[in-house]
Amino acid sequence: MPRGVFITLEGLDGAGKTTQIKRLAAWLRRRGHEPVVLRQPGGTATGDRIREILLHSGSKGVAAMTEMALMFADRAQAIAEVIRPALEAGRIVVCDRFTDSTEAYQGGGRALGSQLVLELHRLVCDGLQPDLTLLLLPGFEASLARARRRNDRVEAETGSSEGRFEAEQDGFFRRVWEKYREIAARETERVVLIEGDLSIDEVHEQIAEAVAERLMLAGKTD
Ligand code: TMP
Repeated sequence: MPRGVFITLEGLDGAGKTTQIKRLAAWLRRRGHEPVVLRQPGGTATGDRIREILLHSGSKGVAAMTEMALMFADRAQAIAEVIRPALEAGRIVVCDRFTDSTEAYQGGGRALGSQLVLELHRLVCDGLQPDLTLLLLPGFEASLARARRRNDRVEAETGSSEGRFEAEQDGFFRRVWEKYREIAARETERVVLIEGDLSIDEVHEQIAEAVAERLMLAGKTD
């Protein structure tokens, strides 16, 4: 059994995960921890190549099943190369997205259903579950507006081509959003739902509170 603590952040595109992960990592460092931070897809050399296929706006015609299989291929690599070894060494792992994203985006958004995703998770990831999942979920309209704004900004600033998901229709994001709510209602022990139109500081405070509680349970307080 892993001895570390596995924390994941989830939410729609533009929910502010990146900012919050930076704040959380700094908060953990101030308390004497050196967290291992990674994102999915990506986070390993192999995963970064898979990410390119998955998110590149030029990757047209990727079938939903292919997309899901690639997400799990990326995850299997991250678990083997980074997550398991870090947990076994007693580290705190902070991961930007994990299987909840696959359930929300491929299971919900692409309508493949939860059962298939959960079954694959069991087979490919050996059922590895986060100890704590922070789900950032402002109201649907606000989430959508943020995702669209982020896409425009990133494209204008960097000419980035990682826009394959952001280019999806509103109905897709509605299904993703609803699936996330379904996961939160089902996984009440693991998932902390942070909703409403909160400031960056307010979200950080809620995250810090939930993480502090979890670290205390794991006996990792300073
Ligand atoms: P990011 O910008 O947060 O790194 O997100 C990458 C995109 O990939 C985002 O639109 C969500 C999507 N995604 C899935 O569709 N399924 C998954 O399993 C993961 C991890 C991400």
